[in-house]
Amino acid sequence: MGFRMRHVAEDSLTDSVVATLAEDAEPRFREIMTALIRHLHGFAREVELSKEEWLAAIEFLYETGRKTTRTRNEFILLSDTLGLSSLVDMTSSRGGDGATEASVLGPFYLDGAPMIENGGDLIRGNAGEPGVVSGRVTATDGAPIAGALLDVWQNAANGLYSTEDPDQPDDNLRARLRTDAEGRYRFTTIRPVPYTVPEDGPAGAMLRAMGRHPWRPAHIHFRVSASGCRELITELYPDDDRYIDEDAVFGVRKSLAVPFTRNDSAEEAARYNLTAPFFELRYNFVLRPA
Ligand code: BEZ
Ligand code: FE
Repeated sequence: MGFRMRHVAEDSLTDSVVATLAEDAEPRFREIMTALIRHLHGFAREVELSKEEWLAAIEFLYETGRKTTRTRNEFILLSDTLGLSSLVDMTSSRGGDGATEASVLGPFYLDGAPMIENGGDLIRGNAGEPGVVSGRVTATDGAPIAGALLDVWQNAANGLYSTEDPDQPDDNLRARLRTDAEGRYRFTTIRPVPYTVPEDGPAGAMLRAMGRHPWRPAHIHFRVSASGCRELITELYPDDDRYIDEDAVFGVRKSLAVPFTRNDSAEEAARYNLTAPFFELRYNFVLRPA
C-alpha cells in the first residue's frame, strides 16, 4: 500500500482513507466507497459529531439490526422513512418517457400470490367498500401488452396486510392476473385504508423524535411485468386520502394519486357482481423497454 498514515491529521484524514482504496478495485465499488467516505466525513465535520452522539448512532444501528428479520427489515423501513428508497426509485428511473412512475415496494410483498382470471375477485369474505380496478398495460410507444403479469396486494379493512394478521389467510387480498389480447386488465377488490408503518422499533423512535406520524395514505401495490419490458413496482393512491400529502415513506407521486370514483348505480354494480355504492378506479400502466 502506497499511502502514508504516520501523521494523520484532521485536514488530511479523509484523503488518507480514500487513498487506501486499491487503484485496481472494481471501478463502481471505488466510486461508491470514495463518495461514501467523503460524505460520511463531511457529515461528521458539518455537525461536529460528538463521541456520545457517534456512540448513540452506533447503538441505533445495532438496535436496527436486532429488530431486523427476513420478514421485518428495519433497515429498509429506515431507508423508506428517510426518503432514501424513493430517491433511489427516482434516480434509477430518470428519463422514463411517459412510463408509469415507480414507488416503494414495502415490506409486505409475498411471492407466489394465487393466479386469478382477468376480471377476477379479491374480495372473497372481506369487509369494506367494494370496487373495480381496471385499465390497460401498454409500452411507452402506446402499444398494448398482451399477457402482462400484474401482481397485486393491499391491506384489509382493519389496516393490516395478511402477513401482519394471523386472522387473515396468507393470500388474502393478494393475486396475480394477466392482461388480455388488448392489454386490458380488471379485478374487483375492497378500498384499501390508511395504515401506520411499524413503529415499535428504532425507525418508529426516530419518527417520534422528529415529531412525525407513522401514517401512509391508503394504496394498492402493483408489480407489473412483461417480456421485453422493465418491471414496474408501484402503488396507486386515492387522491382524496387524508394522508395523501404526508406519506411517512414519501411514496406518493402526483401521477399515482388517482380518483377512486363513487358509483351509486345498482345496475352497474351488478355487472361486476358488486353491490352499490362501489368505487371505480381506472388506470393505465405504461412499461418502459428493458
Ligand atoms: C407499504 O406500503 O406496505 C410500506 C412501505 C414502506 C414501509 C412500510 C410499509
Ligand atoms: Fe403498503
